[in-house]
Amino acid sequence: MMRTDQPAHDDVARRAAESIDETRLLASIETLAAFGARPDGGVNRPALSATDLDARRYLVERAHALGCAVSTDACANLFIRRPGIDDAPPVMTGSHIDTQPSGGKLDGCYGVLAGLECIAALNDAGLSTRRPLDVAIWTNEEGTRFAPGAMGSSAFVEPARMPTYLDAADAGGVTLRAALESHRRTLPELPSRGDAPPAHAFVELHIEQGPQLENADVPLGVVTGIQGVRWYAFHCEGVAAHAGTTPMPMRRDAMTLAVALRASLEEIAVSLGGEHTRVTFGRWSVTPNSINTIPSDVTFSVDFRHPDAHVLDTFDTLVAACARRHGARIAPLFAHTPVRFDCEVLARLDAACRALDAPALRLTSGAFHDAMYLAQHCPTAMLFVPSRDGISHNPAEATDARHLVLGARALAHTLTTLCND
Ligand code: GLV
Ligand code: MN
Ligand code: MN
Repeated sequence: MMRTDQPAHDDVARRAAESIDETRLLASIETLAAFGARPDGGVNRPALSATDLDARRYLVERAHALGCAVSTDACANLFIRRPGIDDAPPVMTGSHIDTQPSGGKLDGCYGVLAGLECIAALNDAGLSTRRPLDVAIWTNEEGTRFAPGAMGSSAFVEPARMPTYLDAADAGGVTLRAALESHRRTLPELPSRGDAPPAHAFVELHIEQGPQLENADVPLGVVTGIQGVRWYAFHCEGVAAHAGTTPMPMRRDAMTLAVALRASLEEIAVSLGGEHTRVTFGRWSVTPNSINTIPSDVTFSVDFRHPDAHVLDTFDTLVAACARRHGARIAPLFAHTPVRFDCEVLARLDAACRALDAPALRLTSGAFHDAMYLAQHCPTAMLFVPSRDGISHNPAEATDARHLVLGARALAHTLTTLCND
């Protein structure tokens, strides 16, 4: 049971929030961003790559320096534990440290580093909590090296998924199984913990990755849920032939088919979902990908998001029919229904914002997050800070320092009250 309205606990939580150290938090963001730094200021750190393993080694050392124990599990998720007075189910926070190929310094990393900053703040303030506090680093949230995304958190809440993930291969043919073995060799000393131990709550702090908070000029977002998502691959087949000699009526051009199909899919998505529709055709593979040969094969991805489960289900039916009409093959890659977060954890986040005199907006997340899966496991919610110009999945991703610090303070407040339930 979660307790509410406890003035003594609020005072302790306020002390934890006040102990957040801006300089240390900002320095830790820069230090982590050096692992996989791109010349344009962004970060490229694929899940379980050599740079990710180096970054993990650095974070494990930092955790030990903070007096924490670190454990892992079958999907190489890392759990950094600050012990509690009681051996009760922990309060969990954290996010991911893998990035998009042209990612920024904050997506995922901010939530992990703010979690570590909360531990450092509790240490500095000399505060013990009744429950342990765990900072989780979830493996392969982005899903760009191994599909699907949010692999670590989904395997945590449902370990039976793990065997279905092991043969996932990256673009170079390296399997997740092999990447997990490299992780074991890099961090052999980490104990493995059992499947999905109970947790009291999970709170994920993240950048918004969209423009709502900035447009409203509000520094914090209390996230009430996550919209649903569908990922598909569409495959169009043609016949390779000479670009200069083949008359237009004789061609069977896979790209002509693919762009017509793309236009139909966009029309379906927009007419079905209206202003809430988000549809993206982000990955294209063309064979033979030659300037003077008609394409014989085109495969492209579709990412469709919407807050209404019914719209997502109807989209599934309509796109399957559309693929049939165009003579294309379709493969579902990933699906998740919309998620609603826990009212009591949301109330704690609201209370933290009030205690810090920070205006907050309630909103739904457009991006998916590890919290989407943790919500199946324990009471869960998220907190957002603004993204400058709404930009993310881009080296230019940025958040004002005052917002990063305020978010960490609100997280410290929330985690401390939950840890003292
Ligand atoms: C995760 O980054 C997503 O695609 O929403
Ligand atoms: Mn993220
Ligand atoms: Mn991301």
